[in-house]
Amino acid sequence: MTEPILAVTHGVDDTRALAAALAELARPHDLILLAGDLGAGKTAFAQGFGAALGVTDRITSPTFTIVSQYEGRLGLNHLDVYRLEQLNEVLDVGLPDLLDEGGVTLIEWGDTVLPALPPTYLEIHIELPDDPEAGDDDRLITLMPVGSVWRARARAITEALRPWRAGGGEAR
Ligand SMILES: Nc1ncnc2c1ncn2[C@@H]1O[C@H](COP(=O)(O)OP(=O)(O)OP(=O)(O)O)[C@@H](O)[C@H]1O
Ligand SMILES: [Mg+2]
Repeated sequence: MTEPILAVTHGVDDTRALAAALAELARPHDLILLAGDLGAGKTAFAQGFGAALGVTDRITSPTFTIVSQYEGRLGLNHLDVYRLEQLNEVLDVGLPDLLDEGGVTLIEWGDTVLPALPPTYLEIHIELPDDPEAGDDDRLITLMPVGSVWRARARAITEALRPWRAGGGEAR
């Protein structure tokens, strides 16, 4: 089992920058789940990620549209499944086709629909740190590679996120 990769950001633009660094590693058909409470920063992450893929359209929350598709160097499929009541609705979205298309797929609240997903993905939790010393704009970002394809990329992800790595005590 691969260790989770821990990172900390100190503001919305910092989260976007972290997401952009991760996007440099993106490959066609990648599936990334974004987990975390309302307002944690999932959409902000998608914005930074998309910008680095070359998406120029404004990336907004797809809460009511369920799926937004953007063109870039790699395409971006951005989903938010918060509103979906039933797993069936996720299946109706046609996820296998989206994944087949060759872009990268980001799913906000994706951790709530695991049975509808293929077993290979990067799961990213964004949360407010427990630390009472943490600032209001600090976020703990935990990345968990799931499946052998993503586990094989854990070292590259750790390298790419070194500037934000938590627990190292390094000044940025
Ligand atoms: N370090 C940070 N990273 C991301 N967002 C931050 C950070 N610090 C403060 N924020 C603020 O938190 C909010 C994050 O909003 P965002 O829409 O990205 O959250 P979300 O997780 O997508 O919420 P929802 O569950 O409603 O979709 C923004 O207002 C942003 O400015
Ligand atoms: Mg959102």
